[in-house]
Amino acid sequence: MSFNCVKKVEDDYDKYVLVSTTGKINLPDYLDKKSKDLAKAVIEKNEFTAKASEKLAMTLVNNKKVIDFVIVGLGDKAKLNCKNIRQYLFDTLKNETGKVLLSFANEELDNMDIVAEVVEHINYKFDKYISKKKDKFLEVSYLTDKKVPKLIEGYELAKISNIVKDLINEQAEVMTPKALADKAVELGKQFGFQAEIMDEKKIQKLGMNAYLGVARAAHHRPYLIVMRYKGDEKSKYTHGLVGKGLTYDTGGLSLKPTASMLTMRCDMGGAGTMMGVMCAVAKMKVKKNVTCVIAACENSIGPNAYRPGDILTAMNGKTIEITNTDAEGRLTLADALTYIVRKEKVDEIIDAATLTGAVMVALGEDVTGVFTNNDEMAKEIISASNNWNEYFWQMPMFDIFKKNFKSPYADMQNSGSRWGGSTNAAKFLEEFIDDTKWTHLDIAGTAWASGANPYYSQKGATGQVFRTVFSYLKNSKN
Ligand code: BES
Ligand code: MG
Ligand code: ZN
Repeated sequence: MSFNCVKKVEDDYDKYVLVSTTGKINLPDYLDKKSKDLAKAVIEKNEFTAKASEKLAMTLVNNKKVIDFVIVGLGDKAKLNCKNIRQYLFDTLKNETGKVLLSFANEELDNMDIVAEVVEHINYKFDKYISKKKDKFLEVSYLTDKKVPKLIEGYELAKISNIVKDLINEQAEVMTPKALADKAVELGKQFGFQAEIMDEKKIQKLGMNAYLGVARAAHHRPYLIVMRYKGDEKSKYTHGLVGKGLTYDTGGLSLKPTASMLTMRCDMGGAGTMMGVMCAVAKMKVKKNVTCVIAACENSIGPNAYRPGDILTAMNGKTIEITNTDAEGRLTLADALTYIVRKEKVDEIIDAATLTGAVMVALGEDVTGVFTNNDEMAKEIISASNNWNEYFWQMPMFDIFKKNFKSPYADMQNSGSRWGGSTNAAKFLEEFIDDTKWTHLDIAGTAWASGANPYYSQKGATGQVFRTVFSYLKNSKN
């Protein structure tokens, strides 16, 4: 257990951390009179006022025990929000191991959700393939007067976020389409949602030939995954989720260079994200109906590979000239979208996909691109992201972009023009939603971190975005 709440200090800790805003510092009552006086004197001597990121460490003799006591500054109270509080806590705790007692000097900042989230986030490590594993963890006891709920939402979401990270970090030879499908079933049992998996024969029967074209060459065969959570039997409204589930993207015959291929196990990032959302709505018993579809497959090469110049017929009957086999995500999503609209009859859709390098050129690696046919819906999603250390930005969807995927040989072509690449992809997807209310999240930048983001500072899967989608669903009017 890396996080728990305590009402009183009864145990011994390796470190006692007090977090305070700038100004007069309220010392905690677990300090006896002598150590309070000493702490006050040290604070005065150092002219310490708990400015942002300022730290003051001291050794005290408290109740006859020697303790390490640290005061950490949060800066001006007026400038605080949940994003920077998370960041300050993260910076404070990220290099700590062992037992830490943590409390806020300002009662009004008492927030066990954020503390629990940060601790879980810090303790995450994908060390399955490292012989010498990290054996020291951070254990935080959080001193609070507040009533502790049965489920601390921030803690539960952080644990699910770590599941999402594991799914995405796993190598493609292990996290195959079948393994992803099995995971959906396993998580469904663990968290309380239904999962149906369909093999290639069933996918053929459904006529999902754009999806099957992409999947054709791979040794690991495709699986269509459908997850259903019914949190409100009385409501007829169903929220739809779609995740891009490319367990690996070589680019196909339009082969990627090695450097671009190296991290392409992250190409099921959308699937991992949406599986996380399913776990979260089920765990928190959200009163909504949610259905999630993942067309899982691998974009590989081989004698049976689909080719540039081939024409595929999507599930909705539209024909697509393949101009680049590396623009495969939109082909699998096209059929997943048709499936969720026509077979599952959802009322709205959010899809998450590591869809284009272009979104990273436009927005960088820390911002998710938002594309929608319903500005109100996009606004709600973006406002849901404000509670988290995640950044979302709405991108244009003008019809003028449609000219970019015209084809002389078929109804459309798959790769469009280089300019405006992320909107081209989104406009392509829009052809497969039958006018359903829809928002597409391009997470090519945000699913995977290079290590430079101050909060997602570990290389690899970030576990971002699923929290925003979860918050949106939880607060949505429908
Ligand atoms: N999976 C990639 C997009 C991607 C790039 C994800 C970088 C994460 C990091 C996608 O399938 C792809 O290859 N897109 C092409 C589209 C192009 C051929 C129109 C791209 O972005 O280059
Ligand atoms: Mg590709
Ligand atoms: Zn891809």
